Amino acid sequence: MKILVATEKPFAAAAVTGIREVVEEAGHELVLLEKGTKADLIEKVADAAGLIVRSDIVDKEVFDAAKELKVVVRAGAGYDNIDLAEATAHGVCVMNTPGQNSNAVAELVFGMAVLMIRNHYNGKAGSELKGKTLGIHAFGQVGRNVARIAQGFGMQVSALDPWVKDEDMVAAGVTPVHSIEELYKNNNFVSLHIPATAETKKSVNKALIELMPKGGVLINTARKEVIDEDSLAEVLAEREDIRYIADVKPDNAEALVEKFGDRVFFTPKKMGAQTAEANINAGIAAAKQVVANLKDGWNRFQVNK
Ligand code: 3PG
Repeated sequence: MKILVATEKPFAAAAVTGIREVVEEAGHELVLLEKGTKADLIEKVADAAGLIVRSDIVDKEVFDAAKELKVVVRAGAGYDNIDLAEATAHGVCVMNTPGQNSNAVAELVFGMAVLMIRNHYNGKAGSELKGKTLGIHAFGQVGRNVARIAQGFGMQVSALDPWVKDEDMVAAGVTPVHSIEELYKNNNFVSLHIPATAETKKSVNKALIELMPKGGVLINTARKEVIDEDSLAEVLAEREDIRYIADVKPDNAEALVEKFGDRVFFTPKKMGAQTAEANINAGIAAAKQVVANLKDGWNRFQVNK
C-alpha cells in the first residue's frame, strides 16, 4: 500500500530515512511530498492508504480526494489542522504522536526566554531566570518538560491544569494552581501549553495578561489562536513593562514588532518541534502507527472517536 508523507516543513533527513525503513520493511511504498502545495497533496493522496503530516491542513477537500485513505497520523501533538468530523465521515482513523516532540518545544521556551531577558543580546544588562516564578498554563507533555528544565534554571514553578491531579504536579516539584487569575497574577513568566479548541481560542485576553506582575513575560509555543491579538496589542501599549514571545507568530506580528520593538519576539517560522531528535521521534512513531493501523486496525492514539 502507499503511504504519503506530506510536510510543508520537511522533517530532518535522518527522520525521513527512519520513516522509509519502517514503511518499506512492512512492505509498503513511501511517497514523499515536501513543501508541496494543496493541489500537490490532493493529487498525491488520491491512492494513499496512509498519510503522515505535521501542521499541514487536512480538510474535506483532502478527504474527498483520498479514496483509499484509512489512517492519518499527525507527527506531533496538536491536531487542530485536521478536520476530525470529516475524517470520521470518511471512515478514516486520525492519530497523533503524544510526547514525541515535547522536549524540543520545551527547550525553545527557554531559548526564547533567555533571549528576551538578556535584551536580545544587545549589550545592556539583562536579568536571570534563577529565582523567578514560572506559571505553566496546561500541564501536558510539553508543560512537564518545561517544568523540569525550569527547575534546572532555579525557577519556582506552578501550573494550572484541571485535568491533572494535584499530587502528580507535586511529585514533579510543581505547585498546583486552581485559579487562572492566580496563575497570571503571581508569575514573572507564564508559558502557554493549551491546545487550540473552541473553548481556548482567544481565551488569553486582556483581563488575564494585565494581571501579570511588573516585567511579566508571556511565552506562547502553543497556537496563535489561543491569544486574543487585539487584547495583546492593547496591554503592550498600556503596560510598557510587559513582554511577549512566541513560536507561533500572531497575524499582527509585523505591527507588534514595529510598535513594540524588542518587547516582542517571534521565530520566523514555527520552530518548536524542528529538531532532528523530535523529527526522528515523531516521524518514526507516526510511521509505526500508520503501519500498525494498516496491519490490524491498531488505534491507541486515535483522536476522532
Ligand atoms: C505540535 O503540535 O506537535 C507542535 O506544534 C509542532 O508542530 P510542527 O510539526 O508543525 O512543527
